[in-house]
Amino acid sequence: MSVDASVTDGNTSVSLGLIVTELVINALKHAFPENRSGKIVVDYRSHGPNWTLSISDNGVGMPAPSEGVKPGLGTNIIEALAKSLDSEIKVASANPGTAISVVHAQLAVVPVARIV
Ligand SMILES: Nc1ncnc2c1ncn2[C@@H]1O[C@H](COP(=O)(O)OP(=O)(O)O)[C@@H](O)[C@H]1O
Ligand SMILES: [Mg+2]
Repeated sequence: MSVDASVTDGNTSVSLGLIVTELVINALKHAFPENRSGKIVVDYRSHGPNWTLSISDNGVGMPAPSEGVKPGLGTNIIEALAKSLDSEIKVASANPGTAISVVHAQLAVVPVARIV
C-alpha cells in the first residue's frame, strides 16, 4: 500500500475508504480462485485538488465481456461513491490481473466572458 501525505476532508476520506474496501474485497473474492497466491496493491496519490486512487491485483483478470460480467452490488456502490466524489472509474487489464483507478481530475475553472 502506498499513500502520500495529503489530507482530505472527512466525507471524502469515508468515501475513499469504502471504495478501497469494496475493491480489495473484490480482488480477494474474484482475482485468486483456487487458493492462488498473489498481490493486491492500493495506491493513492494527489496533486493539488487532483487525486487518483488505484487498486490493482495480479490475479486472473476481469472476465471478458463475452463471458458476461454481471455487475453486482459492489459495482453500483463504487459507481455511486465515485460519482459523489466527482471522479471517474477506469478499469484496465494489468497483465496479469486487474487495475481499477478512481480519478478525480478537477478542471481549471476558465472564466467565460459574458456577451452582453
Ligand atoms: N479484481 C477482480 N478480478 C477478477 N474479477 C473481478 C475483480 N473485481 C470484480 N470482478 C468481476 O466483476 C464482477 C462484479 O463485481 P461486483 O460488482 O463487486 O459484484 P460481486 O463482487 O458481488 O460479484 C464479479 O462478479 C467478478 O466477476
Ligand atoms: Mg464485489
